[in-house]
Amino acid sequence: MTDANIQNIYDQAKKWVLEAGERLRTKMHQPLVIETKSDANDLVTEMDQETERFFAEHIRNTFPEHRVLGEEGFGDEVSDLDGTVWIVDPIDGTMNFVHQKQNFAISVGIYQDGVGVIGLIYDVMADCLYHAIKDQGAYKNDEKLKELKEVQLDSSILCLNSFWTIENRRVHEDGTQALVRKVRGTRSYGSAALEFAYVAEGSIDAYITMRLAPWDIAAGVILVNEVGGVTTQADGSALDMVGKNSVITGNPSIHNEIIDDYIKLK
Ligand code: IPD
Ligand code: CA
Ligand code: CA
Ligand code: CA
Repeated sequence: MTDANIQNIYDQAKKWVLEAGERLRTKMHQPLVIETKSDANDLVTEMDQETERFFAEHIRNTFPEHRVLGEEGFGDEVSDLDGTVWIVDPIDGTMNFVHQKQNFAISVGIYQDGVGVIGLIYDVMADCLYHAIKDQGAYKNDEKLKELKEVQLDSSILCLNSFWTIENRRVHEDGTQALVRKVRGTRSYGSAALEFAYVAEGSIDAYITMRLAPWDIAAGVILVNEVGGVTTQADGSALDMVGKNSVITGNPSIHNEIIDDYIKLK
């Protein structure tokens, strides 16, 4: 894919993300139809579905040869990343969308033959767009994000969420408790995409979670890469961008230490 092609795809993606965000802002105070999926806390609204449909239709009309992998099922059956694949989470942080009316994002990662080339994470209510093109740096609106500086674990802020089993293996509880005691503070924002964006901007130093889908992480991985961050599964192995993953993303100066000395899944 040429640079001109990538720029064209990026321009379209950015336009659609901003447009979809505007639709969410204008419609979010109307009564929502809220349904549940895998369990009573796994929420989906008609706005998740409408937003994903919006992306799928625009992508198909403009780039008919591209494929779409989306959370709500309006995309294609995607089991490999051959060609150009848009990985779309129409609302990341649906629980926040429903309960808080803030702290949710639209996440779009675009992959070319398995390589992440464009990442967009839009904090809709803050009107803040995190964006990156591979090898061109990551941005928060117009501000270029800096390379991550070396940090020490005891002065780090760590994001965690509450799902602490992985493939029926429990994580090392003592290690995890020791990690929580070791770091300066912990946070949990309820939107994986935003948590990746915060790692990229350096406002948190690492984010650990035990089960995410490709659409939760596709854009974030690209942003974090562009500032010199590292993302792996919790045992240090490579991510599978068409499957479920445990995830540790963060500053390279603490990433291995967290895996080896605290998470201990190796
Ligand atoms: C969820 C959010 C949440 C994470 C969940 C995800 P959704 O995405 O990213 O922070 O903990 O695992 O499923 O369902 O709101 O798009
Ligand atoms: Ca969901
Ligand atoms: Ca998500
Ligand atoms: Ca979602």
